Amino acid sequence: MIIDGKKLSNQLDNSMKAEVAALRESGIEPKLVVIIVGNDPASQIYVRNKHHKAIKLGITSIIERRPQDFTQPELLTLIDQYNRDESVHGILVQLPLPKQIDESAIIRAIAIEKDVDGFSPENVGKLFNNSHDHYPVSCTPKGIMTMLAHYNIDPEGQHAVIVGDSNIVGRPMGALLLNAGATVTYTHILTKDLSSYTRTADILIVATGVAHLIKAADIKPGATVIDVGMDRDENGKLVGDVDYDHAKDVAGAITPVPGGVGPMTITSLMQQTLELAKVANNRTLETVK
Ligand code: GUN
Repeated sequence: MIIDGKKLSNQLDNSMKAEVAALRESGIEPKLVVIIVGNDPASQIYVRNKHHKAIKLGITSIIERRPQDFTQPELLTLIDQYNRDESVHGILVQLPLPKQIDESAIIRAIAIEKDVDGFSPENVGKLFNNSHDHYPVSCTPKGIMTMLAHYNIDPEGQHAVIVGDSNIVGRPMGALLLNAGATVTYTHILTKDLSSYTRTADILIVATGVAHLIKAADIKPGATVIDVGMDRDENGKLVGDVDYDHAKDVAGAITPVPGGVGPMTITSLMQQTLELAKVANNRTLETVK
């Protein structure tokens, strides 16, 4: 089975469009600010895609572009401006940042109620505590959970193996699967005999940035394989971390690249922007009451 993230994201976008229209009708204008510093080529594409998706759904999107030599104090000032701006519901600072800027200081500077990426220590803490509050979570893992649910792949009792230990994907992904009842094994690029782990996975999530790291022989027959990679092969073609052409004959369900995880990440970002806009509005109503 091919897990079609593009098709699912289109379906979800259509219902979100109606929701945005209804929110606007009631006087709420969902607004997202994306800040991008420097000229990382992949980030430029991601940010442009986010902007186009927001516009398509009727979400107001502001992109703030700053040069490679932008300083940390300047970025903190810009964030502060949007923290104070009550018309803004979500603030996203595109990562990675240039090396003169401390990413964790920047993440901590974003107001928690506008942390649309779910990267703040508070929101990450809620995720790892399996809190029953509503809180944003990193958009790529969130999109993957939505895909699994849509395709009736229940993680409960399954062995999920994560390959990749990033804060954006691997770590929150493991927490979400654990919260959903999976047995989770974290592996990464330093893991010895990686294949001995991946071959035991019922659900295999691969997010390393290494093109075609996972081959058909590394996959348990019938497993669900989720490929987060967006890599270039030797001919410059966009490929994933999984050798899809061979892996698809072994896996029970698999995401293609492109058209798998990528579109779902952006859809999750839009869902969370709407969520933050609704919560902010309820807060205002309560203050008025
Ligand atoms: N860079 C790659 N993925 C992401 C993401 O989900 N959010 C942000 N802010 N930066 C990223």
